[in-house]
Amino acid sequence: MPMSESHLPMDRNLALEAVRVTEAAALAASRFIGRGDERAADTAAMEAMRGALSALFIDGRVVIGEGDQGQVPMLFTGDKVGNGKGPTIDLALDALEGTSIVAKGGHNAVAVLALTENGGFLPVPDIHMEKIAVGPGLPVGVIDIDDEPAENLRRLALAKGVDLEDLMVCILDRPRHEELIDKVRTAGARIVLITDGDVSGAIATALPGSGIDIYMGSGGAPEGILAATALASTGGQMQCRLMFRTEAEKARARAAGQCDHANRLTIEDMVRGDAMFAATGVTDGAMLMGVRRHRGGAITHSLVMRARTGTMRFMESHHNFLLKEPGDVR
Ligand code: FBP
Repeated sequence: MPMSESHLPMDRNLALEAVRVTEAAALAASRFIGRGDERAADTAAMEAMRGALSALFIDGRVVIGEGDQGQVPMLFTGDKVGNGKGPTIDLALDALEGTSIVAKGGHNAVAVLALTENGGFLPVPDIHMEKIAVGPGLPVGVIDIDDEPAENLRRLALAKGVDLEDLMVCILDRPRHEELIDKVRTAGARIVLITDGDVSGAIATALPGSGIDIYMGSGGAPEGILAATALASTGGQMQCRLMFRTEAEKARARAAGQCDHANRLTIEDMVRGDAMFAATGVTDGAMLMGVRRHRGGAITHSLVMRARTGTMRFMESHHNFLLKEPGDVR
């Protein structure tokens, strides 16, 4: 590659190219909805995403990937993707966010890809992270990860001009969240418990009409970076904190370039630069409709965002399988 190419700025059209990538992964995963085979769904999505990425004019490096090298066959942290001919780009991705959702035919499974300039993503390991997120148009400081749920809900209700009892909180349905759920119920707010898929859950706070006001609880740290990228594009707020349950997790954080004590992370700590985010629904969810397959084709629904401009695009694509090349994802 000529030296100059690595210094090329990110082309804004890259955001639209990113949708082709998430569409390919979603289409591939959609064949496995309800089939009870998480691994097959995940592998199909990863292969499709990897294939579609190879057509992009980028010199790409996966920073937040599907796992560590040796653990997963492709799209691992450090994997090189793209055709190597464009600007140097960092990627955060999850070819199938919600593998067990797809296996069971549940809600909120998406294919996700985020892009930014070299060094723009916080390189977190695959451990858990505490998260709290709200959408745009709210005063800075309306949420504080160190405050009790009741206090965050009180401030949010005041800022939104609604009764606290009208707020809808999205929380992952996990035993570790029992205390949080009790506190939210005691405060009086309503709750949507989701089985999986907290990228959609957190981003839904920023989508008009989703019905979700705030996301609370812990989930995957890589998923936190993906949600932060989308919220960066909408003007939402998010605070997170890495959770270390074992010494091994601390060691993984150190290896990923993180210190082993958990600081409060803001969106700016997690993603910087001209960040772009694309997601395509695999199954129906708070953020997007899932893939609809029909004779000779399929319809996909995607969301594309760019932090620099704050543009949010919802795209419905009609795929004609009869006109695809052999080997294309269908
Ligand atoms: P996968 O797609 O990797 O299965 O992740 C699903 C998910 O629900 C994420 O959305 C969430 O961040 C994480 O798992 C929660 O982890 P855990 O299942 O350990 O609570």
